[in-house]
Amino acid sequence: MFEVQIDPTRSKAQRYRDLEGELASLLEDETDALANLANATSLLAHSLDRINWCGFYLLRGEDLLLGPFQGKPACVRIPVGKGVCGAAAARRQTVMVPDVNRFPGHITCDPASRSEIVVPILEKDVLRGVLDVDSPETERFDEEDRAGLEKFVAVLIPRVAWGRL
Ligand code: SME
Repeated sequence: MFEVQIDPTRSKAQRYRDLEGELASLLEDETDALANLANATSLLAHSLDRINWCGFYLLRGEDLLLGPFQGKPACVRIPVGKGVCGAAAARRQTVMVPDVNRFPGHITCDPASRSEIVVPILEKDVLRGVLDVDSPETERFDEEDRAGLEKFVAVLIPRVAWGRL
């Protein structure tokens, strides 16, 4: 059985490094996309504090389609360019929103969400989707979260058979 081993006494940067190691070992014997994305969301949900939703939206044509996630049921389809997820996908850059009520076009899924970070998933320049993490606190995410979650996605990308999703 896999145990999440994140030490809360370590600094945030160290905890993200621990998380990358946990992800790599969790996925080392498997490349099935659905299984690995599902486990990645569980790892995040059990490792990050003060979050209420985390999960993947996967590119399907011009839309982002809901993938594996942890949290309340969410919007199923988001056009690229719409909402925070669509903005990150269109810009191909991480979007951090300190207060979702101040982001024009933010799409409310869980009304408890107050801040949000969305990291695009780019496999050799091919957009595969986004990782979305929501918090019930404003200004929950900072540059360390951005760096940590971008690295998390970078560790994930070569371990997922994206073309078979
Ligand atoms: N808030 C997102 C929609 C996805 S949910 O937060 C899970 C957005 O504006 O794209």
